[in-house]
Amino acid sequence: MDKVTLSKPYLLDSSDLTKEDLYKIFHRADFFMQNFKVGNKFDDLKGFIVALAFFEDSTRTKLSFELAAKSLSAEIFSFQAKSSSLSKGESILDTFKTIEAMGVNIYVVRHGSSGIPLFLQNNTDGSVINAGDGKHEHPTQGLLDAFTIIRKLGRIEGMKICIVGDILHSRVARSNIQILNTLGAEVALCAPGTLLPFYPKEWNVKIIDNLDDAIEWAEVVMALRLQRERMESGLLPTMREFSNYYGINIEHFRRKPDLVLMHPGPVNYGLELDYLVNEYSNVMIQTQVTHGVFVRMALLSLIGKTMNKEKNAFANLFDM
Ligand code: CP
Repeated sequence: MDKVTLSKPYLLDSSDLTKEDLYKIFHRADFFMQNFKVGNKFDDLKGFIVALAFFEDSTRTKLSFELAAKSLSAEIFSFQAKSSSLSKGESILDTFKTIEAMGVNIYVVRHGSSGIPLFLQNNTDGSVINAGDGKHEHPTQGLLDAFTIIRKLGRIEGMKICIVGDILHSRVARSNIQILNTLGAEVALCAPGTLLPFYPKEWNVKIIDNLDDAIEWAEVVMALRLQRERMESGLLPTMREFSNYYGINIEHFRRKPDLVLMHPGPVNYGLELDYLVNEYSNVMIQTQVTHGVFVRMALLSLIGKTMNKEKNAFANLFDM
């Protein structure tokens, strides 16, 4: 087995990753976690220019990709959509070609429209990493969530994991379901009917209607942010009703103190979670953020090596 390359030199959605790819990423992330020291750089991305192209707001994903790429000795190019020539009518493809002309070879892209990373990948010789596209996918969140479960509980295969809340609008849910299924976890969804996908059976998940039943069943609960910016009106009677029926509070932990609770952030406290749940050590929200740096370092490192392997294979064709 080639330990240092992935099946594909890019990451557009979670189906790009085989089970073998996932464990390679986790193994490398473990290595970085053990050996990371602020100021000490690894040279995995020496000679690469990484563009952070965020067309939608982000705190965790953008900062952790920036720290990850810097720690691997890449040059960083931080593209600010809001202050760019997009405001003068330049198209996204021309914007991208302009960045490419400056020598960028890895693009970390977040965009409000599903499919933009795929569109960009189809128009470059470089590699695109999807950092969240519309309601479609957020594969590096799925990676860091799976890594967090494995580090916390020692395994993931056969684990019972329930995703709670706004599944319909969530790219995090789509990525997690795909990755958790690939890794052999049992996945359930718990949400108001209006926030469930239309054909959940195709996702290989079970549906649990009631939050108390979901918490009793699950070893890990992943709460999601209510994506109000993507939500049509009328899907929920009131926010208070959502919080009463689907918000996770201290009572749930009193009944099940060993519950492992995750949330990708940002959290709407008072809606999805009661702030007091942070008293419990099994609440993984900050750990998820920390793991995000090491998982993104691992992904960037392996993508860089996969790109180099493909480049060398191409060069060798002409040496024959
Ligand atoms: N979880 C997540 O994607 O957070 P940001 O929007 O802050 O990057």
